[in-house]
Amino acid sequence: MDAIECIATRRSIRRFLNIPVDQEIIMTIIEAGARAPSSGNVQDWKFVLVDDKEIMKKISTHSVGQECIHNAAFLIVICSDSEHTELHYGLRGERLYTVQNCAAAAENMLLAAHALGIGGVWVGAFDEEKIKEILAMPKEARPQSILALGYPAETPDHKKLKDLNILTYFNSYGVRIKNLHRLLNDYSYDWETKIKQAHTAMERLKEKTRKATQKTTVQVKNKGGSLLEKYKERIRAKIKENKR
Ligand SMILES: Cc1cc2nc3c(=O)[nH]c(=O)nc-3n(C[C@H](O)[C@H](O)[C@H](O)COP(=O)(O)O)c2cc1C
Repeated sequence: MDAIECIATRRSIRRFLNIPVDQEIIMTIIEAGARAPSSGNVQDWKFVLVDDKEIMKKISTHSVGQECIHNAAFLIVICSDSEHTELHYGLRGERLYTVQNCAAAAENMLLAAHALGIGGVWVGAFDEEKIKEILAMPKEARPQSILALGYPAETPDHKKLKDLNILTYFNSYGVRIKNLHRLLNDYSYDWETKIKQAHTAMERLKEKTRKATQKTTVQVKNKGGSLLEKYKERIRAKIKENKR
């Protein structure tokens, strides 16, 4: 599967089969996270791999009891370590870049997992302090997200996406462009429009022909009727004449 297909088909998976995942696959997923972009390439993340069911259960309890956490084959807790980021980028580094860097790593991991046939969900609803405690994390580290992963036991419904024309502005916030598809070189939209127009034109032509045929039929009937009458009249006259 190529990158675009992987992005387009990835969905959150919250139910998992009770099948263990190979260590090699797990490490490939973690490596995908470590390859994510980060501010100034600080790579200010740590990844805690959790596959101990007892620990998973504890984490689930402090993640509003989400079942996907203790039902998963394993968890990856993505943690930020803001020390360097803060040093280089100050408050913006600490408050924003650390979060964004870890988010980039999380998405990379979910995509890599999906490409390898592993389903997963990004979990953000958890008690940060409790998770720190359970995983014996130092003060400066912060759990940013938990990924629950495993072989999928569900196929999610179709996902409704917001329209790109509504989401995208051009050169200025709030400015929309009419033919976004052309900018994206997606000419299928133009062809679809042309095909629709051709269908409408054909339907109109059919209707016009139907009405014209109906009108002509009525006219022929009327005309035919009166001609017949005239012909009958003439025959009657001839008979009368012959009788005389
Ligand atoms: C920051 C963040 C936090 C999330 N937290 C949770 C969560 O706590 N529990 C959960 O089941 N899903 C969580 N999700 C997953 C979203 O619900 C899911 O991505 C969204 O509904 C879109 O569906 P999709 O991933 O199938 O495209 C989270 C996603 C993000 C990005």
